[in-house]
Amino acid sequence: MSRPVIIIGFGGHGRVVADGLLASGVDLLAATDSEPSRALDPGMHLHIITDEDLIRGYSATDVYLAVGVGSIWPVLEDSLRRDLVRRFESLGYRFVGLRHPGAIISPHADISETAQLHAGSVVQVGAQIGSHVIINTRASIDHDCRIGDFCHVGPGATLSGGVEIGEGAHIGTGAAIVQGVHVGPGAFIAAGATVTTNIGPAEYVRGTPARPFQPKPRNA
Ligand SMILES: CC(C)(COP(=O)(O)OP(=O)(O)OC[C@H]1O[C@@H](n2cnc3c(N)ncnc32)[C@H](O)[C@@H]1OP(=O)(O)O)[C@@H](O)C(=O)NCCC(=O)NCCS
Repeated sequence: MSRPVIIIGFGGHGRVVADGLLASGVDLLAATDSEPSRALDPGMHLHIITDEDLIRGYSATDVYLAVGVGSIWPVLEDSLRRDLVRRFESLGYRFVGLRHPGAIISPHADISETAQLHAGSVVQVGAQIGSHVIINTRASIDHDCRIGDFCHVGPGATLSGGVEIGEGAHIGTGAAIVQGVHVGPGAFIAAGATVTTNIGPAEYVRGTPARPFQPKPRNA
């Protein structure tokens, strides 16, 4: 049975998720934000509440949730996206994914229910997409690719056939990955990189061809 959906997080990614869910005919009830009075409403007229309001006001048996929090770094064990999924699942809530009507999705791909396929994305035959994966705007996943749980394939990134991406890895905006390459769990591929060789777990690479680099400390 279908239920109305509440989006957790209403920043930039959350509003893109809201738009995609509305475009696909989902009954959108509300979105959460840590400061509802400051949340930008692009004319969707959603009810903006806090996570605590959600827990107090909506039972886990009455609504589904969608993740509105994006990511710009690998999604590791302690990352916000994983934390919120763990927290709400432990309270009994269930998450839905997104299939934007403008995405081109092979009926012969194996896609987790909680994966988000955004506008203009392409998922080809034989691809496997794990749970809570984001295939962002216009990203392309070719035949037989395998994308691990919580990965984010950024806007316009292109994966040739048979590429494997380990859990939580981040594929930056517009990156290109050639056929058959393996990217390790927790790795980071910078925007615009061209990846022609395997990338190890938690390795950070950038450039064409992609080479390792040391990222600046976070929040620096
Ligand atoms: C790699 C990244 C994090 C920037 O890193 P940074 O350390 O903040 O980069 P800085 O701006 O300080 O630049 C440091 C150096 O790296 C270079 N550089 C930065 N980004 C680069 C990139 N994507 N590719 C190649 N070189 C890059 C800069 O030119 C600079 O070089 P220099 O030292 O020779 O002058 C950023 O480019 C990136 O890829 N972010 C991911 C974006 C993304 O996927 N967003 C998805 C949102 S939905």
